[in-house]
Amino acid sequence: MAKVSVCMDEKDDSQIEIESGCSKLDNNFSHEKDSEINRRQPDNKIKVQLKWENVSYAIEKRDEISAILKGVSGVANPGELLAIMGSSGAGKTTLLNILAGRLKSIGEIKINGTVSINGTNIKDINFGYYSAYVTQEDILLPTLTPRESLLFSSKLRLPGSHEDHAKRVEKILEDLRLTRVAENVIGSVTSKGLSGGERKRVCIGIELITEPLILILDEPTSGLDSYTAEIVVDLLLEQAKKGRTIITTIHQPSSGVFKKFDRLVLMSEGNIVYQGQASESRKYFAGLGYKCPKLMNPADYFMRLLHVVDRRNLSKEEREKLKILVEEYSSKEPEKQVVGSKELEHLANKTFTRPSTVLEQFWLLLKRANINSRRNPIFGRVKYLQVIVLAALLDLTYNNLGTSYSSIQDRNGVLFLLTMTAANFGNQNACLSFPSELPLFLKESKQGLYSTISYYMAKTIAELPNLIIAIFLESIILYWAIGLNNYDASKFFIFYAALLILNICGTGIGYIVGALFHTETAAMAAGPLFVIPVLLFAGQFVNVERIPIAFRWVQYISPFKYGFEAMSINEYTDLNLPCQSCDSSDCTKCDPVNDLGFHETLAESFYYNIIIVIVIRVIAYLLLWNTASRAKR
Ligand SMILES: Nc1ncnc2c1ncn2[C@@H]1O[C@H](COP(=O)(O)OP(=O)(O)OP(=O)(O)O)[C@@H](O)[C@H]1O
Ligand SMILES: [Mg+2]
Repeated sequence: MAKVSVCMDEKDDSQIEIESGCSKLDNNFSHEKDSEINRRQPDNKIKVQLKWENVSYAIEKRDEISAILKGVSGVANPGELLAIMGSSGAGKTTLLNILAGRLKSIGEIKINGTVSINGTNIKDINFGYYSAYVTQEDILLPTLTPRESLLFSSKLRLPGSHEDHAKRVEKILEDLRLTRVAENVIGSVTSKGLSGGERKRVCIGIELITEPLILILDEPTSGLDSYTAEIVVDLLLEQAKKGRTIITTIHQPSSGVFKKFDRLVLMSEGNIVYQGQASESRKYFAGLGYKCPKLMNPADYFMRLLHVVDRRNLSKEEREKLKILVEEYSSKEPEKQVVGSKELEHLANKTFTRPSTVLEQFWLLLKRANINSRRNPIFGRVKYLQVIVLAALLDLTYNNLGTSYSSIQDRNGVLFLLTMTAANFGNQNACLSFPSELPLFLKESKQGLYSTISYYMAKTIAELPNLIIAIFLESIILYWAIGLNNYDASKFFIFYAALLILNICGTGIGYIVGALFHTETAAMAAGPLFVIPVLLFAGQFVNVERIPIAFRWVQYISPFKYGFEAMSINEYTDLNLPCQSCDSSDCTKCDPVNDLGFHETLAESFYYNIIIVIVIRVIAYLLLWNTASRAKR
């Protein structure tokens, strides 16, 4: 590949090549000269033109080929706002995703054509270094404020001191008119927070942090009223004025908003039927015999013109109209190049290196998780509620067991119930919380904010304090009330440790299920399918001989078996049940641990369970890593 360079700040850094003759920063930014933020500032006069040529996207299923984009070409210029419009299903998002380099030919999906910036194919450079993509969905952490969200993104994506980040964030908040609500929590559908327009602006702000040269947005105004939509479009125009290349799909713009577009691409059924100055579009269609009434919003008129009733079965009239529009468009060489090619520099293949280390990412994620659980304490509270109600119920039922022969059955019962509930509660809580965070994790992971290991470690550590306290509370409430072995203080702590490890196992299994099944409902439904076999084949419910040979190995990897075993050995050693020490013929001798079929020592059962916890957590991590990698493809 040709050696390429980017005119940048004069200051050198590991990612920047400096060439003499580069234009200097303007005064507004000179105070931030040392900051990475200036590397890609449009004020550095880097202009990026994005071109797509003959792009097609088809889905081949058996012998059927469904063409979604039919060899479309076009251009987006720096300093301009390009709006892509068309009826629903015309292929706008598909085109946008291809322009953003987010779609690739895989399996039945066939993509052809080239997308380039300043003459360099985006496949040959790290496109993400120059561009940012704002998806249609606002995926944000509802408990954070706009300022916190932007600061989090800035700290993870760019180097600099806290003051540098804070200054950068304040500037973006101001640019996006978010300063007034910067301290309000973002909120979600269920918890009221920012308005839809403000939320959308936060999403844009998060992407603007890295000062991308190209900003791609999918329907940033959908769901907003016309006034708010106009505010968003004005902000995009301001960004375009700074020299950025802005490409956005848009639905139903008001006539006021429509007038503001620099360029317009109109799409119908995978074809482009108009491309050029938005202000010229009316005249162009009038020339084809489709005259927009004077008082009608041209955007509404075009949508009606391009609308088809049934995509798979176009009427004769629709087919003919489409044919005329496509042929007319193809017969005219659309006006493409606004910027002279001499102004467009080749772009370097910059490798995106995260400025933050794994440890820094972990620390920031941990802090964010703590803020999140402080402001949304429901998961933590549910955990406390679960253990307190369970402990109270067990107290009522097994109160003061005593040391009679019959207490053995009760002790076994209570210990096994604790094993089962630890497995189920942990699993259920993780099945609920893990998939709900998955969309945000996948989005941030795609943005390259942090590595999967940082996220996973932060999540694992963040959940621990609540778990440690909740299980301690549970143990305290039930241990003495039930009358479990009180030989010395170590008995209680060994019981507590075994129960805590069991809960950690249950949560780990929930993570595995969550990483496999991605939605709360699917994970909740599938969760028991993972826990029940491990409980069933653990050897306590059924004689080992009865377990199908193919599943007998499960008992050796069952955390519930080792957890139950650890609690049982701890309970029956030094308990002084009369039947344990009787040696005369008029009493029945008992050996509860042996009767349960346990042969490991206490240390061994702990040791095996700790290994199982680690293996479960590693499997959950690998599944999450795999999900993140697939989402990035
Ligand atoms: N992977 C896919 N498999 C099957 N069909 C697909 C796939 N991707 C896109 N399509 C189909 O391609 C067409 C265009 O989809 P696209 O999302 O690009 O439309 P759009 O113009 O953005 O519509 P809207 O305005 O509703 O967002 C739709 O009919 C969609 O169902
Ligand atoms: Mg779309």
